[in-house]
Amino acid sequence: MILYFSGTGNSKYVAERIGKEVGDAVGSLFDRLHSHDFSEMYSEQPWIIVSPTYAWRIPRVLQEWLEKTKLSGSKEIYFVMTCGDSIGNAGKYLKKLCSLKGMEYKGCVSVMMPENYIALFPTPEKAQARETISHAENTIQEIIALIKNRLPFISGKITAKDRISSGLVNCLFYLCVVHAKKFYAKDTCVSCSLCASICPLGNIRLEKGKPVWGNHCTHCMACICRRPQEAIEYGRRSWGKARYYFPEEF
Ligand SMILES: Cc1cc2nc3c(=O)[nH]c(=O)nc-3n(C[C@H](O)[C@H](O)[C@H](O)COP(=O)(O)O)c2cc1C
Repeated sequence: MILYFSGTGNSKYVAERIGKEVGDAVGSLFDRLHSHDFSEMYSEQPWIIVSPTYAWRIPRVLQEWLEKTKLSGSKEIYFVMTCGDSIGNAGKYLKKLCSLKGMEYKGCVSVMMPENYIALFPTPEKAQARETISHAENTIQEIIALIKNRLPFISGKITAKDRISSGLVNCLFYLCVVHAKKFYAKDTCVSCSLCASICPLGNIRLEKGKPVWGNHCTHCMACICRRPQEAIEYGRRSWGKARYYFPEEF
């Protein structure tokens, strides 16, 4: 079974591509995360977890869900991480997670996709994003071939920078950067409440028709990137930047 978490659609796309070729079910973790559902899941096929990279690891919210949820049936588990640049030493933590769960770690692989972290980095314009997605196809095909043959993913060389990024920097990132305090809605907000309904953590509520963010943000960037009105901003960091969401035409 293929399970995915996705803020802006990249990981959803990769999960669905894999599912189509491997011929296995694909499921979003949105509802389970939203409703704190940690009930057991069952699959006879290997588990394939597809997720974005947050600070050189899988998102903490997904890590916690995996720690708490029993995945029964197949013991094999693959990890596919979409990223804008690098997944660092994410594999080390996933391997550890698998050993805690008594599952067989089949490796962790990265798929370079358009950058979605509008709160910190430049995001691509549409044409550039399409080009990056097209380039990802070869990697996706390689991943599919390995999964079909039940072969493990081959991990690349890990540098000292990777270790520091996935270790210390990841911890500092959650401590200092991941909060919703800088999100705000502009006057162009039409009170459609889409931001509240797509927040995977149920962290947005509407007060007097305007979104208000709580304390459980995971910085997935869904709320800021999904609205065509561009009515949500993240401090000044997002001003004038392209909102990235996986293009419909792919
Ligand atoms: C909070 C946050 C942290 C991120 N950290 C990294 C990172 O460490 N390395 C990287 O290459 N990309 C990073 N990115 C980029 C995303 O991993 C990438 O764009 C991903 O494909 C988004 O997937 P999604 O559309 O399924 O949410 C980060 C994005 C966000 C929102």
